[in-house]
Amino acid sequence: MEFHVKNIDLATGGRHRIEWAEQEMPVLRGIREQFKKDRPLAGMRVSACLHVTTETANLMHTLQIGGADVVLCASNPLSTQDDVAASLVSHYEIPVYAVKGEDNSTYYAHLKAALDHHPHITMDDGADLVSVLHKERSELLENVVGGTEETTTGVIRLRAMSKDGALKFPVIAVNDAMTKHMFDNRYGTGQSTLDGVIRATNYLIAGKTVVVAGYGWCSKGIAMRASGLGGNVIVTEIDPLKALEAVMDGFRVMPMRDAAAIGDIFITATGDINVLDKHHFEVMKDGALVANSGHFNVEINIPGLAGMAKGAPARVREFVEQYVMPDGRKINLLGDGRLINLAAAEGHPASVMDMSFANQALSAVYMVQNASTLANTVYSVPDDVDREIARIKLASMGIHIDKLTPEQEKYLNSWEEGT
Ligand code: ADE
Repeated sequence: MEFHVKNIDLATGGRHRIEWAEQEMPVLRGIREQFKKDRPLAGMRVSACLHVTTETANLMHTLQIGGADVVLCASNPLSTQDDVAASLVSHYEIPVYAVKGEDNSTYYAHLKAALDHHPHITMDDGADLVSVLHKERSELLENVVGGTEETTTGVIRLRAMSKDGALKFPVIAVNDAMTKHMFDNRYGTGQSTLDGVIRATNYLIAGKTVVVAGYGWCSKGIAMRASGLGGNVIVTEIDPLKALEAVMDGFRVMPMRDAAAIGDIFITATGDINVLDKHHFEVMKDGALVANSGHFNVEINIPGLAGMAKGAPARVREFVEQYVMPDGRKINLLGDGRLINLAAAEGHPASVMDMSFANQALSAVYMVQNASTLANTVYSVPDDVDREIARIKLASMGIHIDKLTPEQEKYLNSWEEGT
């Protein structure tokens, strides 16, 4: 079996951590039991490009139990957990191409190695795999039944491809399921981003002015958790509705050019480029921390920051590069501007990835069963799948909810009854 991991000897530690995460993934465990009986993915080759974490390992194992022949590469050069990659190869016999800290050319070589698997199904987080497949390996398109996409940025890219008529197979936008973005993006990104900032710096958040760029589902979670830790949160936005929501949620809202001068910690999660730019670095306080939690490392203008600084940055802690400005101010870039929750911490906790990856597993099955009726565009996760995942998650927490009475159901379906 071919693979490329950092060190296969790390496998035992990886296995322990994979099994630890499994305990917090009851929905995926239930799907695995069903997959054991039904083998709905038998004969399907799946090429997955996801963050190589303990949670992803549990998804890969589930697909394998469902009959799929799986290969995995990293969806970000800095997010791989090397012990997990080693364990997937050693204990689960899943080929993995991922090394934490790989350079860009290795990252793309790994994507191509995953495509050499000739997938029937692609499973992406950020749409890099689909993009390389369409641009550089189009001869493989004829095998592909369909794909799934995990994240907001990837769904935006795929919708753009679909609009241009460039997308050559159907894709399910897992991100758009309620049981994905309402929980993973908000509570997962919220907690893991603060975890990443804290692990990278060991800073106290209480009393700090934390500037959160964006107020989508991810940034909402970041703002909420930063505030919960005692941070004084400022939100920046370009969308008046989201800005208004942030105001009514109790946050200060202002343009980044004003926030730049007063923030202690800056966290971007907008999906756009140069959200923190040179004119912002010019006015930042000495010691400011800048971090990104958006999918790509484009939200902070790092070349701009490097161009302004005196000399090369100093690596002052494992995930902190310190740039010194000509006037002596220091600006600290965390995690090379890559997803700080996966670079410096472990990504979203298993309990929330449980639902995201239940959506992935069930969407892959849906794709296999329905591909012949689907067009080459982006689809939502079926509503009944979404609600079923929420129902199982609640049940796993021992929480029961009410049911409509026949009288209530009738009332909701009638238009005659008023006051
Ligand atoms: N994205 C964010 N957190 C993640 C995790 N723990 N595993 C896989 N993908 C993720």
